[in-house]
Amino acid sequence: MTRLAVLISGTGTNLQAIIDASASGQLDAEVALVISSRPDAAGLQKAAAAGIQTISLSRAVYKEPWAADQLIAEQANAAGCDYIALAGYMRKVGPELIEAFPNRVVNLHPALLPAFQGGQAIAEAFAYGVKVTGVTVHFVDAEYDTGPIIAQRPVALVEGESLEQLTERIHAVEHVLYPEVLQLLAEGRVEVVGKSVQIRSTG
Ligand code: GRF
Repeated sequence: MTRLAVLISGTGTNLQAIIDASASGQLDAEVALVISSRPDAAGLQKAAAAGIQTISLSRAVYKEPWAADQLIAEQANAAGCDYIALAGYMRKVGPELIEAFPNRVVNLHPALLPAFQGGQAIAEAFAYGVKVTGVTVHFVDAEYDTGPIIAQRPVALVEGESLEQLTERIHAVEHVLYPEVLQLLAEGRVEVVGKSVQIRSTG
């Protein structure tokens, strides 16, 4: 079975969605390892509650960014992981990890890339006044939020809704889309062709 390392920094609701999809059989992959860039990330408790091995990286590890990436690659390899899934991981991923897992590091972004890159995507899209935003899952490359796009799902804004309401609706879409994309990866149906990604149909 496909083994995943999930990288987090915060609440880990997407981690939980992946764990749940795996437990229910919707996702034919298991979370073998959870690595947090912060020792106080609430997601660590979710992983522990599911009996998943966790590693928490101290701030000191990030003084040399390559050191954290090297450690993550080593631990993911040791745990037999096929893919690294970033789920609210707030650190930049460097070449040490990308080269160790080529086209095997994926990220979830709460906007329709290439619009609204960066850490404040939902608030920026809301403030801009867009009528449609959404969710993107993409492979990670050397830059932030620029790698080949695997899947996107639009979310239309509702007249008069608050930023909090939009945020909640985007998260709900993330919780469905990310496990779906991980399932495509587990099925070996995702192929990177240059900058674009092709999804092979089944059968
Ligand atoms: C998600 O909105 C994700 O798109 C972004 O960070 C958030 C993580 O939320 N990169 P959670 O920790 O999974 O609850």
